Amino acid sequence: MLDKVNHIAIAVPDMDEAKRQWGQKLGVKISAPLPQPEHGVTVIFIEMGDTKIELLEPLGEASPISRFLEQNPDGGMHHICFEVKDILAARDYLIEQGARILGDGTPKIGAHGKPVLFIHPKDVSGTLIELEQV
Ligand code: CO
Repeated sequence: MLDKVNHIAIAVPDMDEAKRQWGQKLGVKISAPLPQPEHGVTVIFIEMGDTKIELLEPLGEASPISRFLEQNPDGGMHHICFEVKDILAARDYLIEQGARILGDGTPKIGAHGKPVLFIHPKDVSGTLIELEQV
């Protein structure tokens, strides 16, 4: 059901510092910061072979990562995104297995313009899992 990792998202409190840490210290190629006001984040993309890392900085009042950063002030891994072929079939299977889907269970259009869902972290080793239909 889960195909490859699409991206790993890391919440960062300060994008300039994150740029230094990833772009200079680790020496990886980073994109320019891309504000996504409709998702409450600014994103830097780091292409790593056929997967990517996304650095997320809060943007605006009600950012979905604000609370995470209150609890993890240095930043940290926020979620892993797996690709699925059929997001509704994946959702129904997960619910059958007792997993909780965040929100009302209806896929929303994510940051890449594709339908996404999130699985409750308490149901997967304390890790927030995003599913994206590709
Ligand atoms: Co994501």
